Amino acid sequence: MRVISSLQDIKSYINNHKSDETISLIPTMGNIHPGHVQLIKSASSSSLKIVSIYVNELQFNDRNDYISYPRTLEDDLSICADNNVDLVFTPNSSVVRKQLDDNKNDLPKFTSYMCGANRPGHFSGVYRIVKFLFEILEPNYAYFGKKDFQQLLLIKYIANTYFPKLKIIDVDTVRDSKNVAFSSRLSKIPGELFHQVELIFHTLMIMKKKLLNGSNYNTIKEDCILELENNNISVEYLDLRSLETLKEQVNINQPCGIFIACYINNIRLIDNIEI
Ligand code: PAJ
Repeated sequence: MRVISSLQDIKSYINNHKSDETISLIPTMGNIHPGHVQLIKSASSSSLKIVSIYVNELQFNDRNDYISYPRTLEDDLSICADNNVDLVFTPNSSVVRKQLDDNKNDLPKFTSYMCGANRPGHFSGVYRIVKFLFEILEPNYAYFGKKDFQQLLLIKYIANTYFPKLKIIDVDTVRDSKNVAFSSRLSKIPGELFHQVELIFHTLMIMKKKLLNGSNYNTIKEDCILELENNNISVEYLDLRSLETLKEQVNINQPCGIFIACYINNIRLIDNIEI
């Protein structure tokens, strides 16, 4: 497995491989966990598998969250090697910053809801780094998780608009035995608070069941928020939304999902479930 940080080296590596190999890209911010590994495993073994590891400052609206983001490069590299990754791209942040598109991004309307409404600049930061990675690594396939569903829609928009030959593959959320979605920020939550984390998916399941039984959306939503808040979970949003436009819905007539962002012990976690 190769590890490349310099832009010049990565450009020549891609130039040497792109004509006779299919390139699969798995973008990450590191602290590789089973969710990331599932993305890596989903990529075809006959393709050239590239994992990028870059903690993108621009997508953090909270400076402390950026500074305390778990950085575990050595472990990440050994997990990548164990999973037949061909190349890990670990660009240097001062170099990347100079390369990023400073133009105003054409962010679609749906990025202004949920995480977009609560994390100013977040999707603009994601947009800029992902467009840069697609430009420089020229993947044929790129793998993203449904756990970050709003991000996934944005990535599909970027690919459709600027990289028509690139296929985005979405991967189901990977959970532990208690249905907790794996996430890098989980490592910041002390073990004794894990029963609170388990309530996140539990609540999504209860809401889904009640909606399928025909209960009133606004009543269910209020009850669930109250229950979470009573368990010391601070809810940022808990919404039923269209899977296509991400507009809030009050019934399940169209393809939709329930989306949550909440804080446990000041750590922000997100999850979702399709109906
Ligand atoms: P990061 O949070 O490291 O996630 C990298 C990829 O792993 C994303 O596509 C995310 O949706 C996916 N992922 C995370 N947890 C998952 C889980 N439990 N199951 C399945 N997939 C999961 O998302 C980012 O990094 C960044 O925003 C990035 C796209 C790299 C741009 O900086």
